[in-house]
Amino acid sequence: MASITIFFISLIVLLPPNSAIHPPSSNSNLIQQACKATRYQQLCESSLTRYPNANANQIIQSALNISYASLRLAQSMAQSILKASAGNPSRTTAANSCIQHLANSEQRLKSTVEALPRGEMKNGRAWTSAGLAYQYDCWSALKYVNDTEMVTETMLFLDRLIGKTSNALSLMMAYDVFGEKMASWGPPKTERDGFWERGGSWGDGKRLGVPAGLKADMTVCKGGGCIIRDSAGGGERGAGSG
Ligand SMILES: *[C@@H]1O[C@H](CO)[C@@H](O)[C@H](O)[C@H]1NC(C)=O
Ligand SMILES: *[C@@H]1O[C@H](CO)[C@@H](O)[C@H](O)[C@H]1NC(C)=O
Repeated sequence: MASITIFFISLIVLLPPNSAIHPPSSNSNLIQQACKATRYQQLCESSLTRYPNANANQIIQSALNISYASLRLAQSMAQSILKASAGNPSRTTAANSCIQHLANSEQRLKSTVEALPRGEMKNGRAWTSAGLAYQYDCWSALKYVNDTEMVTETMLFLDRLIGKTSNALSLMMAYDVFGEKMASWGPPKTERDGFWERGGSWGDGKRLGVPAGLKADMTVCKGGGCIIRDSAGGGERGAGSG
């Protein structure tokens, strides 16, 4: 009981101090337009309103910063699970594995936060996509030890984190494909819709697609992101644009 109380107190302390000091100069039309490109539009709109959002660049950076801040919070929640799991080997293992995955995710998202102001959208997309997969890996680790309130709460939080990261990734993709004029942004298109991005930085205009022979079976997971089961690699991966 005490550990649960500490857990929630630490959440309150760690919540970012946002709108109280700087009232938002939010442009809800721009946010709505941008969020059309995302999979979880409501989550996108509600989380962006309190952050800088004057143009596409700012919206993308804000979305990334939001995801990064949530990730830091998820890390402290995972640490709390570990602390509360002495004497429970399976939960200890799951918590440690989750913590490791989130550390990997942090590294990727941090790289993206630093790369975006330099205009490195392609790198940002690659790193964020990896960061999202690690978040899903943490979720998967906890799934098997979901027998305390703390784990359940953390998994719900991870659901939202995955949704936010997926959204940030969709926004980057829209910018990369359609440019900074958000009027041209629409619902995220995926390989499922028969949409293949043009060659981009590879520059040869070749159509991109799933390599021949790869069997990918995609399912959408409950709270966000989706899972690609790759029979060759044998693993599960979360993916935002899928
Ligand atoms: C995002 O975070 C970075 C690093 O903390 C900061 O420099 C930047 O101003 C933030 N951008 C937005 C739009 O919030
Ligand atoms: C975790 O357990 C709670 C309580 O039994 C349940 O409501 C929830 O759906 C479970 N979450 C997952 C992801 O299995």
